[in-house]
Amino acid sequence: ASLAHAAVSTDQPLVVAHRGASAQAPENTLAAIDRAARLGFTWVENDVQRTKDGKLVVIHDASLARTTDVEEVFPDRAPWKVKDFTAAEIARLDAGSWFSPRYEGARVPTLKQYMNRVSHNHQKLVLEIKNPELYPGIERETLKTLSNEGWLGPAHVRRKLVIQSFSADSVRTVHALRPDIKTGFLGTPSIAELPAYARFADQINSSHTTISLGYVAAIHALEGPHGKPLEILTWTVDTAADTRRVTGLGVDGIITNKPDVVRKALYED
Ligand code: G3P
Ligand code: CA
Repeated sequence: ASLAHAAVSTDQPLVVAHRGASAQAPENTLAAIDRAARLGFTWVENDVQRTKDGKLVVIHDASLARTTDVEEVFPDRAPWKVKDFTAAEIARLDAGSWFSPRYEGARVPTLKQYMNRVSHNHQKLVLEIKNPELYPGIERETLKTLSNEGWLGPAHVRRKLVIQSFSADSVRTVHALRPDIKTGFLGTPSIAELPAYARFADQINSSHTTISLGYVAAIHALEGPHGKPLEILTWTVDTAADTRRVTGLGVDGIITNKPDVVRKALYED
């Protein structure tokens, strides 16, 4: 299913590997997107934040503690916030062992390293700007990195990239800076509020626990900023039963830690 056609056809929803294939490899590492690629998944999702010295890195939590060995390497630096460590310090951390000894030595990628690998793998990206209130200016910096890595040319912008955030301000900022880029708002605004979001977001990306047939229909009834029906990618759907339920609601995409489980439910069961 292509994202462009999904909303107006009977295509199955697009499958997006959440933080990479994060049930099989440590989330948001290069190993996780490689794993997704090997399983045959083109679309991946990630989370972008900023270091103390202004480098963009790919990691979900505001703290390094859950997904790295930072507590061992820097025991005196609690609560181990990403924004309080330099890129060189973060590059020393092991971001794989917490998940499995098999992944010892995996690193927290910089956005530049990550984009390089996504390109190499011929993948497409739903990029989340995470905790933007902690990182003033991160939208412009993210766009700069994407541009440097060749991701803001017309072909990429049309087919390979969505930028999303839980912060409406952040999504609005991305849309204002680069109106050609496809954007997503993470959350479940009321149906009455949807038209306001449709001015700057092409997608409303809601938790699967919050959506209904009526809600998905209300999204599809609106046009996004590019004059196409508003879309919905729902998260985080990790079971066959939930896959069938959200597919029945008519979602355009499914963001999942277990893309293989979702694909099997969509195409084989
Ligand atoms: O892409 C949707 C999903 O990633 C939003 O939640 O907390 O996993 O970033 P979270
Ligand atoms: Ca995310």
